[in-house]
This record gives sequence, C-alpha cells and structure tokens, in this order.
Amino acid sequence: MTAVLFTCAGQRVDIVDAFRRAGATTIAVDVNPLAPALYHADRYALVPRVDDESYVAALRDVVTEHGVALVIPLTDLDQAKLARSRDDLGTLLLLPDADVVERLADKYLAHELFEERNVPSPPTWLPSHVPDDLPFPVLVKARVGFGSRDIYRAENREQLAFFLGYTPVESMVQVQLQGEEFSIDVFCDLEGRCLNAIPRTMIESKGGESIKGMTIRDDALIELARETSEKLRLVGPANIQCFREPDRSHYVTDINPRFGGGFPLPLAAGGRYPELALALARGERPEPRVGDFREGIVMTRFFSDLSLTRNGDGTLKPLVRAE
Ligand SMILES: Nc1ncnc2c1ncn2[C@@H]1O[C@H](COP(=O)(O)OP(=O)(O)O)[C@@H](O)[C@H]1O
Ligand SMILES: [Mg+2]
Repeated sequence: MTAVLFTCAGQRVDIVDAFRRAGATTIAVDVNPLAPALYHADRYALVPRVDDESYVAALRDVVTEHGVALVIPLTDLDQAKLARSRDDLGTLLLLPDADVVERLADKYLAHELFEERNVPSPPTWLPSHVPDDLPFPVLVKARVGFGSRDIYRAENREQLAFFLGYTPVESMVQVQLQGEEFSIDVFCDLEGRCLNAIPRTMIESKGGESIKGMTIRDDALIELARETSEKLRLVGPANIQCFREPDRSHYVTDINPRFGGGFPLPLAAGGRYPELALALARGERPEPRVGDFREGIVMTRFFSDLSLTRNGDGTLKPLVRAE
C-alpha cells in the first residue's frame, strides 16, 4: 500500500477518508492533538509548529518511519516552507515549484505572475501606484489574505483613502468584478499537465469557504482552468477561483495550490483525485481525463464531531460509542 502523509491535517477528515478509501495508508500530522483528521488516519504524529526550525526534520522522521511515498499539505500554512525544502523531505511533495507557490500566496505577486503567463487577471495596483482614472468600485484587498478577510469595497476616492488607512494589513487595490464567481478544482501531474478540471457554482459560502455548490459542465471554465494550470505548471490539486463578467470574459482572482474546501464535490463527481495522486506516487503517468466527471452533483456541507478518550500514556484515541 502507498503511504501518504498529510501535513497540517486539521479538520480535513474528508480528504484523509477519501485517500483511505482509495487504498492509501494514511498518516496525518498536526501540531494540535485535537485536530480531528488525526484520528481518521491509519497513523498520526504530533509535530512542531510550522515556524519551528525543526518542522521539516520532524516531517522527514515521519516519512522515514512510515515509508511515506507522497506528502500532501492540506493548508496554506506550510506550503512555501515545504516547497523550498522539498529536497530535505526525502520523498515526493505534491506542490508546484517554490517560486509559483510563493507568488500564489501573495495576491499582488500572483497578479504579476498571471500577467506574465497570460492568465486573465483583473486590473490591480499597489496603493502607491493607483492611476488618476481609477475605475470604481474597487476593492482594497489583503495581499496575503484568506477566508475573505480584510477585503473592503470603495466606491470613490474618499472611501479608497479611508480603507487604505483603515486596513491593518498590507493591501492592494483591485477592480471589483460584477459577474458570477465560480471555482474549478483541477488536478495536474508532476509535469504540470492538467488531468482534470471540475467547475462548480458557489451557491453559498461562509467565512470564505464554499459550503454549498454544484458541479457544472461548462466548457469555457474547463478550458480556462486547464490553460491556467498548465501555464503556471501547477502540480497536484489546486482550486482556481474566477469571475465571468457580463460580456462573458473571465478573470482569475485566486488560486490555492491544494485541495479546496469544496473537495467533496470533485470526489462525488467521479474526479478520482486521490487515485490520481496515488498513481503519481507510484511513478505512473495517468492520461488526462479533462471533462470526465458528473455534472449536477450538489454539495451541502455540515459540522461533524469526534469524541476522544485518553490512553494510559495520556495520548488520545477515538471513543468507541456503544450503538
Ligand atoms: N476582484 C474582485 N471582484 C469581486 N469580488 C472579489 C474580487 N476579489 C475577491 N472577491 C470576493 O472576495 C472573496 C475572497 O477573495 P479571494 O481573492 O478569493 O481571497 P481569499 O479567498 O484568499 O480570501 C472572493 O471569493 C470573492 O467573493
Ligand atoms: Mg478565495
């Protein structure tokens, strides 16, 4: 069986379970012993914080101990660090080049990357370079943001000046798009070939995470995502967010090079992304199946829970509930 290590496993029980069902031996790590995904994995380990200098060495120990063939980071937190030190992990890391990972993490650098590689990106400026004829409304948007935090809408110059002074984080100014927002879950091989691209609608989001959505067969979105992922040479899973404007032009606004919060949808739609990841770990070269998925699958997410009890040594284990 192929052993897969999930870092910053947190609450991503859906992903760990899906890999287990796909035939992986799952190993989850987190700094927090109360991270639920730890207890859904075949094995787990507690590791130092991502910013601790021994973080990568601790992961390497887990890799060696369990014969890990593939490392999959589940959050943004350790992506840059792992991409920079991939040679120290001693196994395959499912992330694009460090340069791309770092630029995607900063929305202004990402905008520059998109322009460089001909990926459509909304007009965006640094606060010091805003032009005189700025087309309002615009957004004052955190450069390193997540979960829709620190985004403010400005309708005119006064509001723009206010929000640039008000925001607590380094920001950029971006044209506010007017159309519908979509999200496309792609999976790419180690050479940056797109193996599949599954668009979904954003029926409802909470705290920046999609909680309700539906897969759609939309050829323009599929092609946009395939081209974008190949121009950026993405590797493994990524979530590409874009807008379709009233004139049917598209703009990419955010890319996370990891499984998105909406992971259950491409899974339920038959994307088989865990199987593709395992094939890459075995050194295979699966053929692209772009467009091969079921449309009209609806996802509605909910909270779940896990009860734990202490082992004799103070570690925790799932409580087996009497039915
Ligand atoms: N240029 C834009 N025009 C309109 N809405 C935007 C724009 N950029 C972001 N948004 C809205 O803000 C949300 C969060 O922005 P995003 O760039 O995805 O950052 P993050 O998800 O990292 O917080 C988006 O899902 C979208 O609804
Ligand atoms: Mg986003």
